[in-house]
Formats: sequence, structure tokens, C-alpha cells
Amino acid sequence: MQPVLEVSIYTLLRMAFIWQLISLFIYLVGTLTIAAFLYDNFKSLIHIIKALLEPYFQPQLPQTLVDKFGKWAVVTGATDGIGKEYARELARQGLNLVLISRTKEKLIAVTNEIESQHKIKTKWIAVDFAKGRDVYEQIEKELAGIDVNILVNNVGRMYDYPDTLEAVPEDLIWDILNINVGAVTMLTRKIVPHMKAARKGAIVNIGSGSELQPMPNMAVYAATKKYVTFFTQALEQELAEFNVTVQLVMPMFVTTKMNEYSDSVMQGGFLIPNPHSFARSAVFMLGKTNTTTGFWTHGLQVSMIDKRLFPITTFSTIDRFLQYFFMKMAPQHLRLLIGHQLTKRLRLEALGQKKLAT
Ligand SMILES: NC(=O)c1ccc[n+]([C@@H]2O[C@H](COP(=O)([O-])OP(=O)(O)OC[C@H]3O[C@@H](n4cnc5c(N)ncnc54)[C@H](OP(=O)(O)O)[C@@H]3O)[C@@H](O)[C@H]2O)c1
Repeated sequence: MQPVLEVSIYTLLRMAFIWQLISLFIYLVGTLTIAAFLYDNFKSLIHIIKALLEPYFQPQLPQTLVDKFGKWAVVTGATDGIGKEYARELARQGLNLVLISRTKEKLIAVTNEIESQHKIKTKWIAVDFAKGRDVYEQIEKELAGIDVNILVNNVGRMYDYPDTLEAVPEDLIWDILNINVGAVTMLTRKIVPHMKAARKGAIVNIGSGSELQPMPNMAVYAATKKYVTFFTQALEQELAEFNVTVQLVMPMFVTTKMNEYSDSVMQGGFLIPNPHSFARSAVFMLGKTNTTTGFWTHGLQVSMIDKRLFPITTFSTIDRFLQYFFMKMAPQHLRLLIGHQLTKRLRLEALGQKKLAT
């Protein structure tokens, strides 16, 4: 005969009580986690709405970029792509410009074009950020006497196309480290004391959506962009008490020469804007939110997943439904797998294009 298990009423009550405590704990942790996630994801939107409504309730506050931050902006990597369009948009909004880039002829062409269209002052500085610490003394000398109020750290370099670490030339890796990490760090360090003293100013750092997870085949590039994220967010806290705005812009794909290795990306479209539309939208966010993808569909887009890039993979069914928001919900391992599939595809596409070109 089976032994009868006797459980007293007190034991049952104690077990029920413990179970209730565990449930309450799980409930509290779940609620806090969801609240933190929603806050993280929607605080930008809330800040933008607040900034848009502010003029109606507090019309005495400064409204234009010039009123908010001052008259002079410096833009790095300003002769092409996103940087050139940032420069054009800032000029349209009445800012004087210092454009810093590598190629003198392109700098002259861009400054001439902008001056012919807007009543602003311009200056250009030709330096190669890949050279490392040598260039900053020159920049400092050339900026002497200019009160820099907005600094757009835009200059950036990717591999020629996604590839494995050992396939990327060693010199290019040094260039990427010097450009993507060195320029943003050292230029910010030079400009910050003036902004702190003036108790106003804005630093805009162009990161990338590729920092959302480690990116195989773009390992160095994506890691430098993670650096930009942490660097920017740390400075945002450091400089808040000095009334200096520090903004992180994390674009997804934009149709610039950086992506010329891929016809699919360069086709552009709803999720992939051209640099003009992108910069116009990103500049609109300046002074309204400190973290932004810069372009509204990039906020919706899965981290770099696009139907054309995944026509036959297992991800093709989910790419249309996932959004950046949901992407962030996915475990990092899954994001990493998706990122890897994407860069593998892009690599094959780039190799195919190269073969056709030769
Ligand atoms: N395009 C995208 O899909 C995308 C996505 C996410 C993030 N981003 C980020 O956005 C930023 C701008 O990218 P983009 O696509 O507009 O780039 P881009 O079209 O390749 O333009 C790069 C600009 O930087 C200048 N530059 C390059 N190397 C330089 C160096 N060593 N020293 C000085 N200037 C140099 C170039 O000057 P030259 O004209 O002389 O070459 C050009 O003006 C980068 O930080 C990039 O990482 C881009």
C-alpha cells in the first residue's frame, strides 16, 4: 500500500504565502523592466514633442539654432555625403561654417557653392584625420578667434566593403581608428572648454545604427561606433550642468559613397534616404532630443534589415514586421546572427559588383 502524504494546513498556507511573494517579485521586476525599456525608447519622442510645443507656451525662449547655440558651426567630413548636407542645412539656418575635410579642391567647391546661396561666412581647413595626432595643432591654429558654437563630428570611414578582419588592409584599420575614434575625441576635447566657458553650445556626434550589436564582417567599424555612443552619452552627462548640448545621431543606411559597394543600398527608398533628406531631418532634431536615429524611418527600421538584402534567408519573413524598437527587445545573440547574415550578403554583393567592374 502506498504511504499517504500528510501535509498540514499550516504548511500549505506557508507554501501559498511563499509562492505569492515570488509572484509579486516577478511582477515587480517585469513591470520595472518594461517601464525602463519604454522610457529608453520613447524618451526621444517625448523630448521632440515637448520641444515642438514649447514655442507655444514659452515664446520668449530662443527658437532658432543661432539663438540657441550661437553663430558658428564646424562640420567635419563636410565635402560629401551626410557632412556636406549638414553643412548646407546649417547654412540655410543662418550659421557661419568652418568645413574640415581631406580634399582641398572639394572644400573650395563646397564653400563657394554654399556662399553663393546663403549670406553667411565660411572657412575651410584641409586635413587628413587618418594622420592621427599631428593634425589637431593645425586645426587649433586655424580655429583661433572663432567662437565655435556647434561642432558636428561627422567624419567617418568604413571598410571598402564588409569583410573579415584579416582581409581588411592593416593601413585601413589604422585609418578607421584614427578617423572614427581619434577625430571625435580630440576635436571635442579642443572645443569643449570654450563651450563650457560660454555656457552654451552643441556637440553632434554621428555614430551609426551598426553599434546596436557586434557586427561580424564590420567588426572594427561597428566597434568604433559603439565607442562614439558611449563617449557621447558620457559627455552628455558631464556637460549638462554647463548647458552644453551633446547629441548622438545613429543613422542606418543612407545613400552615400560609403555604401557604393552595394547597388541594393544605393537604390535608396523608404528606409534608405538620400543624404539631403537625412541631414535635413537630423538637423531638425538638434536641440530637441539628445539621442536620435536622425530620420524617422530609421527609428522604425530593423537594424539594417531590408527586404532587398534578405530576399531568401529565413529572416525574410520577419524583416517587414520587426522595427528598431522590437530589434532592441531581441536578445543580443539573435541581433548578432541577423547582423552577420546581412554583412555576409553585402560582402557577396560587393564581390559580385567588383567582379563585374573588372
Ligand atoms: N552612409 C551611411 O549609410 C552611414 C550610416 C551610418 C553612419 N554613417 C556615418 O555618417 C558619417 C558620414 O558618412 P557618409 O556616408 O556621409 O561618408 P562619405 O559620403 O564617405 O563622406 C565622408 C566625408 O569625410 C571626408 N573624409 C574621409 N576621410 C577623411 C580623412 N581621412 N580626413 C578628413 N576627411 C575625411 C570625406 O572627404 P573627401 O571628400 O575628401 O573624401 C567626405 O567629405 C560617418 O561617420 C559614417 O560612419 C553613415
